[in-house]
Amino acid sequence: RHYTAAIALDGHNHVLFSNRSAAYARQGDYARALADACRTLELRPDWAKGYSRKAAALEFLHRFEEAKAAYEEGLKHEPGNAQLKEGLRGVEARLAERKLLNPFSVPDLYGRLEGDPRTRALLGDPEYRRLLEQLRSHPAQLGTSLQDPRVMTTLSVLLGVDLSGAEEEEEAPSPPPPPPPQPPAQPPPTPGAQREKELGNAAYKRKEFPTALAHYTRAEELDPTNMTYVTNQAAVYFETGDYNRCRELCEKAIEVGRENREDYRQIAKAYARIGNSYLREERYKDAVNFYNKSLAEHRTPDVLKKCQQAEKILKEQERLAYIDPDLALEEKNKGNECFQRGDYPQAMKHYSEAIRRNPHEARLYSNRAACYTKLLEFPLALKDCEECIRLEPSFIKGYTRKAAALEAMKDYSKAMDVYQRALDLDATCKEAGEGYQRCLLEVKRRAMADPEVQQIMSDPAMRLILEQMQKDPQALSEHLKNPVIAQKIQKLMDVGLIAIR
Ligand SMILES: *[C@@H]1O[C@H](CO)[C@@H](O)[C@H](O)[C@H]1NC(C)=O
Ligand SMILES: *[C@@H]1O[C@H](CO)[C@@H](O)[C@H](O)[C@H]1NC(C)=O
Ligand SMILES: *[C@@H]1O[C@H](CO)[C@@H](O)[C@H](O)[C@H]1NC(C)=O
Repeated sequence: RHYTAAIALDGHNHVLFSNRSAAYARQGDYARALADACRTLELRPDWAKGYSRKAAALEFLHRFEEAKAAYEEGLKHEPGNAQLKEGLRGVEARLAERKLLNPFSVPDLYGRLEGDPRTRALLGDPEYRRLLEQLRSHPAQLGTSLQDPRVMTTLSVLLGVDLSGAEEEEEAPSPPPPPPPQPPAQPPPTPGAQREKELGNAAYKRKEFPTALAHYTRAEELDPTNMTYVTNQAAVYFETGDYNRCRELCEKAIEVGRENREDYRQIAKAYARIGNSYLREERYKDAVNFYNKSLAEHRTPDVLKKCQQAEKILKEQERLAYIDPDLALEEKNKGNECFQRGDYPQAMKHYSEAIRRNPHEARLYSNRAACYTKLLEFPLALKDCEECIRLEPSFIKGYTRKAAALEAMKDYSKAMDVYQRALDLDATCKEAGEGYQRCLLEVKRRAMADPEVQQIMSDPAMRLILEQMQKDPQALSEHLKNPVIAQKIQKLMDVGLIAIR
């Protein structure tokens, strides 16, 4: 209603028509959805979304050939569009399925019709032959041709059943399995059932759940071969919080769907609904299990996302359930024993287990970093030290171990910074003081090997400036105003010869 009002105010806005097309499609009014999609494309012929809407409406109307053309047309304008590509794949699959299920596409069509007196008489008529050819290549037209008694007769012959007794001509009967390996044509939805479903949908949207349920149940009674009506009932129980009943009905729907060769997307939907019901109940393992089943039938981004979310929660729950500080302490002691014996790989395993049991204990990371350092796995040691520092910033070993790892990786200026942070915590820390001096020496040695640095340091003017800076750090900002000097100072900072604290 609002989109219509908006269109009345601005009849040239393609987005409004696209939005209303989506609304109509949701409501099941696919003809109007199609009309609005076409209007969207008239206004903006290069808009991929418009083609998606048009193709979707056509698909709902079972006009698959046209839907395919719409997807292809859209891809001409936007070749990379994922939605269009996915849609095209889907409709191609439907078309392929149709072809397989088309009773008219049997190898020896004319031979079989010749063999039955009911159709032999018809074969002399060239118009009848034309009709057969048309149905053979455009099975979608079967639905509209069923009124033609010749078509019914032909189907009776091809499927090996007598269809002439069907009460309503447009009501396609679901034929029992014919003698040759010829799958049955998919019947169009039984009109009465379809009507009940629509009434159910309307009530569902108004949240009148008992009414919705009654309509869906009636739809199922009218057409017990269509799983959709059962899945709809399950949706009602989902909304009312009766998750067990919801699941029972989904299972039943899947059974009905499998028996009637329902579209795999419908089966996927029923499995996903079971997953959703478990998710609501916070039974994440079961939810993941059923989302997996749904994804195996048909992958949709929505279910994939939910599955991943449930999996994440599940993992987190398992992780939390594993935490046990007492067991962590046991593992830590075992690790210490191994470390003392010099069995670093074994020690590392015990510390890792201790960390899983108590991930918030900073010192376990420091212990494991010591193992990594012994095993010359410096980047891993570094990572553990960082975690240790993050958890307990006042624990000095985190810094000295980190600095030692950096020193071992010959990253002397960074190591100096970290030793300095240890000294900030405890100025008397011998390990940090000595480490700092070792790294400083190393930095100077390296810097002086650089010809550019040699040249800067042998420039008397620069020496003067550096001396002045040492006495009066404030002078630095004055010197930095001169670009030539600034560049040289930058160089000395880069190599770590001077540091600004
Ligand atoms: C309306 O269309 C625009 C453009 O395609 C889209 O971004 C927006 O999500 C649509 N609104 C709804 C409610 O679908
Ligand atoms: C089942 O019913 C729905 C809605 O009435 C319809 O869209 C669908 O095509 C039907 N499926 C089969 C296999 O007839
Ligand atoms: C779901 O599928 C994923 C990937 O295939 C698998 O790793 C996981 O174990 C499955 N989970 C369940 C509960 O079946």
